[in-house]
Parts: sequence; C-alpha cells; structure tokens
Amino acid sequence: MITKPKGCHDLVGIEAKKWKYVEKVIDSLMERYNYTYARTPIFESSELFHRGVGEGTDIVTKETYDFKDRGERNITLRPEGTAGIVRSYIENKMYGEPGPVKVYYNGTMYRYERPQSGRDREFTQFGVEVLGSNDPLVDAEVISIPVLLYKMLGLKGIVVKINSLGDKESRDNYRDALVKYFKPHIKDLCEDCVERLKKNPLRILDCKVDKDNPILKNAPKTIDYLNEESKKRFEEVKSFLEELEIDYEVDERLVRGLDYYNHTVFEIEASVEGFGSNNVIGAGGRYNGLVETLDGPETSCMGFATGIGRLVQALDLEKVDMPIIDDVELFVMYVSDTEKKYAASLVQYLRANGYRVDTEYTGRGLKAQFKQADRLNAKYLIILNDEDLKNDEVKIKNNKTKEEETVSVDYLLYYLDEHLSEEDYDGYEEDEHECHCGHHHEENHECHCGHKNCHCNEED
Ligand code: HAM
Repeated sequence: MITKPKGCHDLVGIEAKKWKYVEKVIDSLMERYNYTYARTPIFESSELFHRGVGEGTDIVTKETYDFKDRGERNITLRPEGTAGIVRSYIENKMYGEPGPVKVYYNGTMYRYERPQSGRDREFTQFGVEVLGSNDPLVDAEVISIPVLLYKMLGLKGIVVKINSLGDKESRDNYRDALVKYFKPHIKDLCEDCVERLKKNPLRILDCKVDKDNPILKNAPKTIDYLNEESKKRFEEVKSFLEELEIDYEVDERLVRGLDYYNHTVFEIEASVEGFGSNNVIGAGGRYNGLVETLDGPETSCMGFATGIGRLVQALDLEKVDMPIIDDVELFVMYVSDTEKKYAASLVQYLRANGYRVDTEYTGRGLKAQFKQADRLNAKYLIILNDEDLKNDEVKIKNNKTKEEETVSVDYLLYYLDEHLSEEDYDGYEEDEHECHCGHHHEENHECHCGHKNCHCNEED
C-alpha cells in the first residue's frame, strides 16, 4: 500500500467540511475588509525565498523543499506566502496602482520540519498582505483580522502578543547589543545558535532548543533599543489597537522567525487546554524593505498568516460547534427501472431549483434505501412508485415526524418551498420550540413537566 508522505494530511469527511466552513467565513470576512483574493504559484525560483525570507532563517537553511526541474532551474516549494505576493506585486507593477494593495490568500505551504502536532510538512495558511502604506492604522487593522476571524468562528481563548523591532537603525543597534551580550556565553548556546550569532543574532531569541536557557531570558529587550521615531510609531499602533478594542500584551522578546520584519511584530496564541507547545495560530508583522530587497520600489508593507490546521484543531479542542451542513434536504427513492428514470430527471430538476438532493446509486431495495436516507440525515423522502407516477404524483415523507403526503408533481416545488423554508434545522416548524422536557410544542403552549419555563408531562 502506498501511504501519504510524512507530515502531510488527507482532508476528508467531516474534517473537510469544517475546513470549508472556516474558509467560507474567511471569504466573507475578507469581503468586509475589502481585501482581494490572490493566488500565486506553489513553487517559485529558489532565489525568491533565499533573498526574501532570509538566508539566516531556519525556514530557508533547513526546511525548504528544493529541487531542480527538468530545465535545471532551481525551484522551491513555497514555505510561506509573503515572498510570492511581493514578487507578484513587483512583477505585475501593482505599485503603479493607487495604494494600498490589499490582498489575501489561502493555500498550501511546505516546510521540511520534524512532524509533530501543529507542525506539518504540508500545511495551509490563510494570510493577508497590505502593500503601500506605512500607516500605523494598517498595523492595527491587520492584527484585527485574525482577532475578528477567531471571534466569528467562536474561538475564545486567544492571546495577542505584540512587539516592535523598530526601523533599520533601531534593529541594527539591537543586533549589536545582542552580539555583545551573547559573545561571552557562546559555549552555553546550542550549535545552531553559535552559527546564528554570526549570521543573525535575533534568531537566537527564537531558538527552539535554547528557549528555556536563562541566558536567553535575560537577553536585552528590543524596546530599549528603539529610536524616538520607532518608539512613537509603536505607541501609535498600540493606541489604534485600543481604539479597535483589541486586548494585547507587549512581549518584549518577540522577534519572529523570518528575516524581513521591522517595526510591529505579533503572534496570536490559542490558550486552549491540550493544544501543546505549537500554540501560535497566527502571526505576522511589518516588512518595510522587502519589496526593495526583491528589486521593487521602496514600499511599506504589513501582513499576517494563520495556519488553518492549527485553527481547526483549536476549535475542536474548545468544542466549538461549527454549523456545517451534514444532511440532505431530499432523498429520492425508487425501485423499478421506470421509477429510476423518473428519479434521475426529478433529482436534476430539484437540484436545478436549489435543493440539496441525493438518491440511490447501488441497487439497494426500498428498506435499505430508508436506512441510507437516515445515514444521510435526509429531511424529506420522495418515494416514487409507478402507480403514483401514472397520476403525476409522488409520495413525500417528513423523515422526522414520519408524516406522509401524496403531492402532485406540478405542486411539488410549492410544497417544498412551504415545508422546507419554514422548517427549523431540527425538522420542526419554526413557531414550535423545544421544551426542557425534550418535546416540541407551539410557542405559547403550556407544558406541565414541572421544570422552570416548561410545564409539560404529556407526550407529543
Ligand atoms: P509564520 O509564523 O512562519 O509566518 O507562519 C504563520 C502561521 O502558519 C503560524 O502561526 C502557524 O499557525 C502556521 N504554520 C507555520 N508553520 C507551520 C507548520 N509547519 N505546520 C502547521 N502550521 C504552520 C509566516 O509564514 C509569515 N509569512 C506571516 C506573514 C505574512 N508575515 C507578514 N505577512
């Protein structure tokens, strides 16, 4: 048997429905924020990530899927979405448009990581990028996107952590301070951190091996190395976050694992029981300078990305009930060949009129078809038989109340419109309500079971 590669997942069944629901919420959220969907290639020239994400990052030194294609070109499966969007922005000369350009994407990314919960080799990110504005309001607005998304999805336990790396001058000063601080401790750091000290000392703060080492914990803080302008900018971002009523914590050691950041960086953690250590569900920041690094004009940018897998996992752990469609409105049943022909055209007609319909495809008898309809959670059954069809009629049965009626085919759409649109999700009429006794009654029905707000002891 051929199995899937390590660190990858098949998205099937109910899990797939949950993802589609999350993606639907994302699309509607992005409409509200007026971001345009963008799709860039899953593979790009390797150079894009080496220059864009940074030679000193773990992602590029250890985690990229690199290969030569048949034309001997160096190709890399994208480890993240920002570099591709920036390449597209430059290549399509989007900087010529009145800015800012606001785009979002939702696609698979590839990192050769050691697979564990929340860390996959193939994973999906929803991300946004705003190119062409240095307004601190953009920083706050971008942070507000995942916050509102998680809220819309019903995720409660989230913590927003922010920090500022400042502009180039501030970052350089901080870098020098880190080198000075870490040099005497070099023998106490892991092998990778020794290398990082030479190439990119900020990465030491992000080290997964040394993360509990007290040397890291006592390291200089970014905030102490911000120049006046960067400090002022950070204050403005924070004040806009307050205007947007977004709770946040300043985490002075937050630096992020990619090279392109400056000024605002942020991470959103899910503080959900059982989530494990990879609990950052969304992260991002400002990357003024990346467009120039990739040969474009000076452009200020801000963005973020969230891992959909980690997000769905957090929703599952919080037992959030997602309104996924797990039923069909109609199941059309038949036995004879003439009934089957009629079923085929009826199903087509009903689907064309907007109903969610299924039918029988494996030659089951009527009894087994009833079972299949139950498995599909069918709300109504349309039971065809040759006798009724002679009179242009069909039997239609409410699969919950088991009430059955014979309806003229000409009248069928009116019947369905009346019964399905007025029906509650649970199969009961809208003006009925569920009492604490578990029965359904009309809204003002007086029950007698003795519970508060419900006084029923009679069977429906
Ligand atoms: P990142 O922090 O590398 O940032 O990834 C963002 C999110 O993608 C993480 O918070 C996590 O939810 C998810 N993620 C990352 N790696 C994995 C993995 N191996 N398995 C599962 N999920 C994962 C970026 O990628 C930046 N491009 C974000 C950004 C956009 N910054 C500015 N614009």
